[in-house]
Amino acid sequence: MQGTKFRMSTLKVLLVVIALAGAGSLVVTGTVSGAPDGSQGPQRPDDARIAKGFAISPVPLDLRGRDFRLVGLGSYLVNAGGGCNDCHTNPSYTAGHDPFAGQPAQVNTENYLAGGVEFGPFKSRNITPDKTSGLPADMTFEEFLHTLRTGEDHDKEHPLISPLLQVMPGPVYGQLEESDLRAIYAYLSSIPHAEPKP
Ligand code: HEC
Repeated sequence: MQGTKFRMSTLKVLLVVIALAGAGSLVVTGTVSGAPDGSQGPQRPDDARIAKGFAISPVPLDLRGRDFRLVGLGSYLVNAGGGCNDCHTNPSYTAGHDPFAGQPAQVNTENYLAGGVEFGPFKSRNITPDKTSGLPADMTFEEFLHTLRTGEDHDKEHPLISPLLQVMPGPVYGQLEESDLRAIYAYLSSIPHAEPKP
C-alpha cells in the first residue's frame, strides 16, 4: 500500500512539473518576439510578416469568411515583396507623393491594382476582385495558380504576339510556394474592386 501511495504522489509531482514546463513554454511562445540579432525567436514563423502585411495594406480589407493570417501574409507578399502596385496601379502613387521624385510615398488607393499601365504593346491587367464573379482578376485559385506557374495568358489578349504573359514577372512569382500564392490570392480577394483611371 505504502509503495503504491509513494508511486502515486511521485506521478502527481511529475505531472505538475510537466504541466508547469508546458505552461512556461506557452508563455514564451506567445510573448517573445524576434531576437535582436535578426534570427527568428520562438514566435510563430509568420507572425511578424502578417502584422507588417496588415500595417502596410493601402486599402481596407474585407476579412469576412477569410483566413486572417493568409490575408495578412498575402498583403506582405504583395506590398513589401511583390511590387505589384508599381505595374498594376495607374498611376502607382498619388500626386505629390511619388517616391521616385523624393516625395513621401502614398499609394493611389482609388485605382489600386486595377491595371492599365502600358508597357509598349502590353498593358497590365485588373487584378482586383471582379465586379460580377468577385474573384481577383476574375480567376479561380486554380486558374491563378496555373497562370503564375506557366505564364500562360488566361485571357488570350494578344494571341498574335504571344500566348504567354509578357513583362509580368511570372517566372519569378511562379517559384513561390503554393501556400504563398494562396496568401497572395487571399489578399487580392479581400481588397476593394477598382477600375483603372479612364
Ligand atoms: C513589371 C511589371 C509587373 C509586376 C511587378 C507585376 N505584374 Fe502582373 N502583369 C503585368 C503585365 C504587363 C500583365 C499583362 C501582360 C500581358 O498582357 O502579356 C500582367 C498580368 C498579370 C496577371 C494576369 C491577369 C489576367 O487577367 O490574365 C496576373 C494574375 C498578375 N499580373 C498578377 C500580378 C501580381 C499578383 C503581382 C505582384 C505579386 C504582379 N502581377 C506584378 C505586369 C506586372
